[in-house]
Amino acid sequence: MRQLCIFRAMLFCIAFFSFFPVRAQKFAGLAATPPMGWNSWNKFACDGINETVIRETADAMVASGMQAAGYQYVVIDDCWQVGRDSAGNIIADPVKFPHGIKALADYVHSKGLKFGIYTCCGTKTCAGRPASRGYEFQDARQYAAWGVDYLKEDWCNTSTQDAKESYTLMRDALYKAGRPIIFSLCEWGTHKPWHWAADVGHLWRTSGDIGNNWDFMEAGDGSAYGGSVIGNLDLQSGLEKYAGPGHWNDPDMLEVGNGGLTPEEERSHFTLWCMLAAPLMAGNDIRNMSATTRAILTNHDVIAIDQDVLGRQGYRESMKDNLEVFVKPLSGGDTAVCLFNRGDQPKKLDFSWAEFKIGAGASIHNVWKGAAEGTTSSPYRGTIGKHEVILLRMHR
Ligand code: GLA
Repeated sequence: MRQLCIFRAMLFCIAFFSFFPVRAQKFAGLAATPPMGWNSWNKFACDGINETVIRETADAMVASGMQAAGYQYVVIDDCWQVGRDSAGNIIADPVKFPHGIKALADYVHSKGLKFGIYTCCGTKTCAGRPASRGYEFQDARQYAAWGVDYLKEDWCNTSTQDAKESYTLMRDALYKAGRPIIFSLCEWGTHKPWHWAADVGHLWRTSGDIGNNWDFMEAGDGSAYGGSVIGNLDLQSGLEKYAGPGHWNDPDMLEVGNGGLTPEEERSHFTLWCMLAAPLMAGNDIRNMSATTRAILTNHDVIAIDQDVLGRQGYRESMKDNLEVFVKPLSGGDTAVCLFNRGDQPKKLDFSWAEFKIGAGASIHNVWKGAAEGTTSSPYRGTIGKHEVILLRMHR
């Protein structure tokens, strides 16, 4: 009798799962707060990467205090791959990665860190290396076998491919491979992923590539385009409603420490990214960073604003005479307010908080100074330098 019951139960399960197969989805529970880590591209681009750089970066992540500050993922961007074998398996560059990707992932894991890698939806990556088009399931199985924890998938050489379909295919492949992997979509905002990617990935790029410079760069015809801290910042306006735990807007990796910004601009870049609840992927050579860069990247109280569990992306509350005010609601009723002088001249500040729809009675903590600065019941007075921020945390 008992055997008959087990047999019937098995038949029921087989019938049930044939009618209602387990649907692929993105891995739940990952990236509850914006991912933090390091990516090779901004500093090392294609030619600069190899396993020594990645190992030493993992070492530096621990030694510099970045790991303790919350940075977890060590991600190799484009150019680690050189071809496929006769069975279609992706091959890592044997000269640059002589011990293979698995050994590198094991090393990164041995430091208590997580390991990430890069591919592309198209036929070739942006640097012309083999990409995942037609190999999604095989590649996903390979990544899982190597111990990959984070996958960035780019959008070059995609011809007429549909963005949502292409990324959903890789999402399903990752899910089928069975290893929880953060999925980072890098299609530059071209197909407005904020409208469709929350079920597909954990973060999506909202802009073209950031450049190692503050302001707009000029295109050949003299017109301005993004590719800078300010350019990428401005592209985030209005996207705040699409971000939240497990699904983040990504204004691109950090340029802090890469030499194109003044120390004040580095601090502003980092602060504004934290206000945006942006993924914090350092993009500098963390093995050789200055004390100033290190202090910016590891500031605990600033990072706490980025990583706040409420998961709200900050928004631009006002913009007047080059003074911008960004507001980010935080858990427990606190609010982060960032005053930002995007102009080229220092500014005197003298305003009442009501001007920026901020009520009276909250205590003000100046986050970079680490000091109390009165309450929102009195006007705020001070000066703010060119391209500088003042970051305040209001508490009731
Ligand atoms: C694109 C991406 C960059 C980087 C390069 C690599 O430009 O947007 O972040 O991954 O490709 O080739």
